[in-house]
Amino acid sequence: MRIHGSLNMGRFSVKVKVCVLISWALTLACSAAEQDFFTQSKPLTWDEAREHCQECFKDLVTLTPENIQAIAKKLTSEHWVGLRKNPHSSGNSSVLWSHWANGDPLTFQNWYPGWPVVNSTRGCCSCSCSCPAMTNSTGFTELGTANVTSFSGPGGFTTEDVTSSGRLTNTSVSTAAAPMTTRLPSVEAACGQSLVDTDERYIEDSCVAMLSFGAWVEKTCSEHLPFICYEERFLSKASVTNVTTSSAGLTWRPGPNVSDYRLEVRGDKNLTENLTDLAYDLVNLTAGTKYSVQVVPVKCDRDLHSQKVMFYTTPRKVENLTVAKVTETSVSLSWSKPAGNVHFYLIEVQDRHFRSLTEGIEVGRLTPGNLYAFTILSGVENNLSEGSVITAYTKPGRVSDLTASDFTTSSLKLNWLPPEGNTTGFRVAAMNDSDEVLFDEVVNRTKVRVARLPMATRITCSVTALANGTLEGDNVTVVSYTAPGPISNLTLTTTHDSLNATWSPNHNPKPDGNLTFFTIELQLGGKIVETADKLAEPKKHFDGLKSSANYTVIVYMVNGHLKGPPVESSSFTLPSMPTDGTVISFGKKYITLQWEAPANTAAVNYSVKISSSFWGHSSSVLVDNRTNHTFRGLVSGTRYEFEVRTEVNGMSSPPLNVSHFTAAEKREVSLSMLCSSAEPLLCEKNTTREHIFIQLQDHFKELLRDGIFWELKEQETEN
Ligand SMILES: *[C@@H]1O[C@H](CO)[C@@H](O)[C@H](O)[C@H]1NC(C)=O
Ligand SMILES: *[C@@H]1O[C@H](CO)[C@@H](O)[C@H](O)[C@H]1NC(C)=O
Ligand SMILES: *[C@@H]1O[C@H](CO)[C@@H](O)[C@H](O)[C@H]1NC(C)=O
Ligand SMILES: *[C@@H]1O[C@H](CO)[C@@H](O)[C@H](O)[C@H]1NC(C)=O
Ligand SMILES: *[C@@H]1O[C@H](CO)[C@@H](O)[C@H](O)[C@H]1NC(C)=O
Ligand SMILES: *[C@@H]1O[C@H](CO)[C@@H](O)[C@H](O)[C@H]1NC(C)=O
Ligand SMILES: *[C@@H]1O[C@H](CO)[C@@H](O)[C@H](O)[C@H]1NC(C)=O
Ligand SMILES: *[C@@H]1O[C@H](CO)[C@@H](O)[C@H](O)[C@H]1NC(C)=O
Ligand SMILES: *[C@@H]1O[C@H](CO)[C@@H](O)[C@H](O)[C@H]1NC(C)=O
Ligand SMILES: *[C@@H]1O[C@H](CO)[C@@H](O)[C@H](O)[C@H]1NC(C)=O
Ligand SMILES: *[C@@H]1O[C@H](CO)[C@@H](O)[C@H](O)[C@H]1NC(C)=O
Ligand SMILES: *[C@@H]1O[C@H](CO)[C@@H](O)[C@H](O)[C@H]1NC(C)=O
Repeated sequence: MRIHGSLNMGRFSVKVKVCVLISWALTLACSAAEQDFFTQSKPLTWDEAREHCQECFKDLVTLTPENIQAIAKKLTSEHWVGLRKNPHSSGNSSVLWSHWANGDPLTFQNWYPGWPVVNSTRGCCSCSCSCPAMTNSTGFTELGTANVTSFSGPGGFTTEDVTSSGRLTNTSVSTAAAPMTTRLPSVEAACGQSLVDTDERYIEDSCVAMLSFGAWVEKTCSEHLPFICYEERFLSKASVTNVTTSSAGLTWRPGPNVSDYRLEVRGDKNLTENLTDLAYDLVNLTAGTKYSVQVVPVKCDRDLHSQKVMFYTTPRKVENLTVAKVTETSVSLSWSKPAGNVHFYLIEVQDRHFRSLTEGIEVGRLTPGNLYAFTILSGVENNLSEGSVITAYTKPGRVSDLTASDFTTSSLKLNWLPPEGNTTGFRVAAMNDSDEVLFDEVVNRTKVRVARLPMATRITCSVTALANGTLEGDNVTVVSYTAPGPISNLTLTTTHDSLNATWSPNHNPKPDGNLTFFTIELQLGGKIVETADKLAEPKKHFDGLKSSANYTVIVYMVNGHLKGPPVESSSFTLPSMPTDGTVISFGKKYITLQWEAPANTAAVNYSVKISSSFWGHSSSVLVDNRTNHTFRGLVSGTRYEFEVRTEVNGMSSPPLNVSHFTAAEKREVSLSMLCSSAEPLLCEKNTTREHIFIQLQDHFKELLRDGIFWELKEQETEN
């Protein structure tokens, strides 16, 4: 039987301790099972009432010392309870008054005095002796509340709401009571009746009703009375499984005798469904969102206790994860917020975890040049999305202690220490000052010979640590030079006291004018006489040298701190020339010449050259160890030129020049000149004669020069 909606139900609960004796160890285990009680106001027969309770609840109530007080307090009239004289009313001969409707043993009774009524045929009529409690009627006066079932004496009940049930068995008491008044039975009447009317009150198959104050009386089971059902509190337990970003599976336990469930979902979308299954799949949910789910078992249009379950859908994994920036010790990542909700992001790298509330993070304290895998998960509460993974290398560190050594004209050697952290190799590059790349290689040792470089060049070498073969760190540079080559064409020219050296730089390409210099050393007898460095031009003049000395000149090129190979050459200075040349005697056919030896000169030779330009003669003599010489067989009156040179080691000094005439043997040669002129008296003029004489002298001067002795004299003759 199902009764919809029309029931006026009162519901309340009592916590009842259920204690169970467990095994022989005598442990008393108690658990608190909560029972709910429901008063049903619609009057039904005891059997109908029980059927209804079993359908919509558990059963008719079982009274215990613990619950009776609370139940009684709620009653305002008599109600069926779950007790019947013969539990198996079908006629099964079981023990009377032994079990409650739900099968519990009858361990407790709370009869109204005089009940239960015994079968008079058994011959017991002394029950009046057991009626003393009824002497005080005050208890009944307390029932003075309106609209309640009123007690009007043993076996006599009046209900004012339910007049149909006012037909009380064996009741002869007036029913004319006013609604607000309670009729008080007299003790005498009660006991007297029990004594007198035992048979009349006796009910062969009785059911028990509880009076509003808690005492029990027997009633005919077919009487219509309100009733009290109970139900053990059922905690429906819904659970969520298989939560994804957009779906979740719901399952719940079946309720007792429940076939209908109402599912209520609250979140960014609300959903209410009437269901009979024990599972439901939620779809089209929003990722990372909180949903509250309530599964309400519905029984006889009554909501049983429901339990809420709350869950978050899994957030979606982050998208567009990229490495934004890399330094030696940090990696910056950024990503896009996925669809749905995200409360935070969890970043995992190695054993470290970070939380970020924004779509980016800079992870620090990393090792340079190492590979890291970063996992980014989006999270809500305790739910984490799938991880998005990105790997990145930190930038490699800088190498240290980079030095250049072992310079040659075309190579140099670089050494360095690897950087902190990890590297897979090094990129070594060399450039000249015009940023031309001369060398570029990847190596995995910490030293390398940089070759094929031009000589005498300033070279900037850089070493860069690499990660993953190509990811470059910051470079470290060192500036050095390739060694210069030797100079060439060293040419020395000397005088008796100076030396001039010139050479060619011999460079291709042309060395850097600002950086390439020459150093020259002048040595004599293995000792350095003079040094000059930082010469920009390929030449040098030395003064104040000793004559006739074998000087050595060493020249090398300097580039930065590097010297080129030395090139040397030696040369003698010239001897000094003799001094004070004089002619000490001469005649018509000879001239004797004398000179002084040059200073600091011991035994030397001299070459003496004699020449006459007029006669076109010239000859030389070598004079050993003397400082004079007489030339004989000369032509008289002739001017002779002498050159005296000091001769040392095949070298001659500059000449000492002397000239002198031999004595003249004079002859006169007369020239007559006749003057005739068209102009009268012109020849007479002195000026004319002088003019002619000068002309004549010029003529001879040109003809004879000063090579020989001559004189021109004027002798005037009268015709
Ligand atoms: C009560 O007495 C009657 C007659 O005396 C008898 O038929 C009946 O079975 C008895 N009932 C019980 C429950 O003993
Ligand atoms: C009945 O009981 C009440 C209190 O329970 C008491 O006040 C009253 O005197 C009693 N009456 C008799 C007749 O004993
Ligand atoms: C009692 O009954 C009267 C008349 O039937 C009604 O007016 C009143 O509301 C009822 N009181 C209660 C508490 O049910
Ligand atoms: C959860 O998913 C697994 C595998 O897909 C499936 O076997 C299981 O039945 C699902 N459970 C629920 C409650 O949907
Ligand atoms: C869902 O229900 C709750 C509570 O009843 C309400 O506050 C909320 O606005 C509803 N949401 C939607 C999307 O209807
Ligand atoms: C669920 O059942 C209730 C009561 O029968 C009804 O009012 C409601 O409209 C139903 N809801 C759905 C979604 O069927
Ligand atoms: C879920 O979304 C898809 C696509 O929008 C739609 O076709 C489907 O009907 C939805 N399912 C439910 C149960 O709302
Ligand atoms: C990821 O990047 C693509 C291309 O830039 C863009 O279309 C997409 O919207 C981005 N995703 C998110 C979640 O922002
Ligand atoms: C390592 O180098 C390879 C080849 O250049 C490249 O494909 C790869 O993405 C690099 N790995 C990382 C983590 O950068
Ligand atoms: C350096 O990198 C290699 C290869 O990536 C790795 O095996 C090694 O463990 C790393 N060394 C350190 C010190 O991290
Ligand atoms: C680095 O060293 C390894 C082993 O010594 C060698 O196999 C590899 O070729 C080297 N790589 C380079 C770029 O020199
Ligand atoms: C070295 O680093 C500087 C500054 O970062 C850069 O300008 C230069 O090109 C680098 N040199 C080489 C050879 O990579």
